[in-house]
Amino acid sequence: MIDQTPDLSPIRRQFPALQQHDEQGRPYVYFDGPGGTQVPQAVIEAITHYLVQTNANHDGRFKTSRHSDEIIRQAREAMADLLNASLPQEIVFGPNMTSLTFNLSRAIGRTLQPGDEIVVTHLDHDANIAPWLALEEQGAEVKWADFDVETYQLDLEQLASLLTDKTKLIAVGHASNAIGTINPIGRIAALARNVGAWLWVDAVHYAPHGPIDVQALGCDFLVCSAYKFFGPHVGVLWGRLELLQELPAYKVRPANPDPPYKFEIGTQNHEGIAGITAAIDYLAAIGQEYGAQFAAELEQYQGRRKALKQAMRCVVAYERSLFAYLLAEVQKIPGVTVYGITHPDQLNQRCPTLAFTRQGFTPQEIASYLGEQGIFVWDGNYYALAVTERLGLEDSGGMVRVGLAHYNTREEIDRLLTALQEM
Ligand SMILES: Cc1ncc(COP(=O)(O)O)c(C=O)c1O
Repeated sequence: MIDQTPDLSPIRRQFPALQQHDEQGRPYVYFDGPGGTQVPQAVIEAITHYLVQTNANHDGRFKTSRHSDEIIRQAREAMADLLNASLPQEIVFGPNMTSLTFNLSRAIGRTLQPGDEIVVTHLDHDANIAPWLALEEQGAEVKWADFDVETYQLDLEQLASLLTDKTKLIAVGHASNAIGTINPIGRIAALARNVGAWLWVDAVHYAPHGPIDVQALGCDFLVCSAYKFFGPHVGVLWGRLELLQELPAYKVRPANPDPPYKFEIGTQNHEGIAGITAAIDYLAAIGQEYGAQFAAELEQYQGRRKALKQAMRCVVAYERSLFAYLLAEVQKIPGVTVYGITHPDQLNQRCPTLAFTRQGFTPQEIASYLGEQGIFVWDGNYYALAVTERLGLEDSGGMVRVGLAHYNTREEIDRLLTALQEM
């Protein structure tokens, strides 16, 4: 925990959206990060620079095309740094996480035998469930791992009991985009290894909130989306190289048959990919430039990988203290029920994503009211349908979701709390 509120102005200044306000001059409050974060100016500039200076298709014999190839190569390196991948070839770009997951699930489906089993969880976004359920058409059996509705954590014993020598893949979220729980990926990876199954991790929600190390996690595939970590609308897949080599891709014949290209179907969003490098460099700089404000112990480091690790440690420290404040205060509001881990000692097992309901108001009414005050939050199931169904909230409009990011402030939380009290 940090004792003093850091000065966020050097960070917030970099985000043009954070300077926007309504007709009455009230700055907008962006608590909609889990649906998509805002982008720093450097990302906007990288996208514009690409479109002005470098716009071309890839693999041509002329300058702009060669520059395009170089920009994509740099983005692959930046993503490999963010995820601590061993090789940039293990990074596959795509339109978004959902498309990449359907793309790869179909490829994996081609390798399955009837009766092979896949495990999905009730804690996941549907983008990490529906692509696997679709394989039932090919004879795969899909089994469901549950979470405990009191602890809001995956029931690892029950998950382990589902595994057999026919389990081919476990699909699990790094963190829940609905109730914030962070899953013990390392332990699930060990369970997967025991039965020789692959582990597919959806890190879309987790990525802006903490360091990711695919080598330490022990997973086989990991997907995320740059628009959730201060970048543009591009999806990213990391896969172990030998698996990307082995798996049969659905591709057009003239396209490069080697990974990562064989899974990058059609022309990519080059300007978005250019923005990814800028987003990652922005993140790396947080630790370097402002780290001392956020975290007590900082390492001396060289290179982007270490800078990113440090930056994400700073993000964790800051977001956790901000979230502890929000959680303590929101629970004082009459009629509020919070869904998710609330014990102060367990805040390291969750992201700063608050889901709640309030007696007397529907989640839609709350989100609309807050929206009128310039405070942006989500309501409903945010496609984590299995979560709202499991919590019995799907028919009553789901939950209100307040998602904190490292650019949010205590003052913004106070505005939210005041608005909720005045409702
Ligand atoms: C946890 C999680 N997984 C997957 C997705 C889908 O990501 P995309 O929009 O990149 O397809 C989201 C989007 O909200 C998400 O929060």
